[in-house]
Amino acid sequence: HPKALLRAIQEDGDYLVKLASQHIVSGDQFDANTMKQLFRLAAKFESNPKRYSSPLQNKILISAFYEPSTRTRLSFESAWHRLGGDIMSITDRSTTGIAKGECLADVAEMFNNYGDCVVLRDNHQESLFEMMDALRIPIINAGNGTDEHPTQALADMYAIFKWRPTLLQEAQNDKITIGVIGVPSKMRTVRSFLKCLSVFPQAVKELWIIHDKASESELFDAGQREELEARGVCIRTTTELDAVLPELDVVYINAISWEGDSFNTYGSAFALNAQSPLKEDAIILHPLARGDELSTDLDHTAHNWYFSQARGAVFLRMALLTCMVERAERVMDVV
Ligand code: CP
Repeated sequence: HPKALLRAIQEDGDYLVKLASQHIVSGDQFDANTMKQLFRLAAKFESNPKRYSSPLQNKILISAFYEPSTRTRLSFESAWHRLGGDIMSITDRSTTGIAKGECLADVAEMFNNYGDCVVLRDNHQESLFEMMDALRIPIINAGNGTDEHPTQALADMYAIFKWRPTLLQEAQNDKITIGVIGVPSKMRTVRSFLKCLSVFPQAVKELWIIHDKASESELFDAGQREELEARGVCIRTTTELDAVLPELDVVYINAISWEGDSFNTYGSAFALNAQSPLKEDAIILHPLARGDELSTDLDHTAHNWYFSQARGAVFLRMALLTCMVERAERVMDVV
């Protein structure tokens, strides 16, 4: 699959060089060409990870996760290790000066002295922006409250295009119908995914948002739906999962949303299992962690693309980190 994606995207490293030293905050930051080149580089890493073993040698990642994470922290750290760099990891803010009232700007100033890049997960939406103002090294938003999780969205799109590389062609008749089981106004993964997806309207026939009745009035933030539609995405909404499932090529399901200091689960009203009326060749994506909404009896079916999605995130993050931290001329060598 990564090799098919490599063949589908013509190389143009100039888009990647522009990512050098950039903060990564939102899915909005990525245009179609930049995403395609990131996917191409990720596919190169995935096709042959050992060949590019140490472009980040002598560079230090500060991995600051103030909210639980399995995939994002470990895949970022795996990506950095695979690129030959070193890591300092904080998994509990109470072990830092923040617990004594230290302001985030001062913490950011120390990060400037100690590392070359920061990956931050914080359930407080604003912390990212408070640190950014004081940082001279790039920071990646690894999930800020209910706001955004842009690298998850890039990994989601990488999985979709590996599954069907022809969707990347501008002039093509191959359009897919996507269903999102989740609440775009409450879930950072869904919000960022929709932003990245809407950059490729030529690939999407329809986007269904599948929701329970209780979420009807709060599905979208003000302007969120209008912005997606203005980009050319045809959005429909339904509360009837089984009625729409036979139409869907990609089912994106998520159930957990971080709000303030704890999480809520939304998706238990809608569950997928091996008896669900899925199209025979439909794929399921899930950012994970999962709850009851995604039965393990799907794990050994061809619908399971959620494990591939999580695995591919390592290579996508390798591509992004290389472009952000490596000198531009070395990125061109890797490309
Ligand atoms: N997808 C995701 O953000 O998973 P984690 O919470 O395990 O990092």
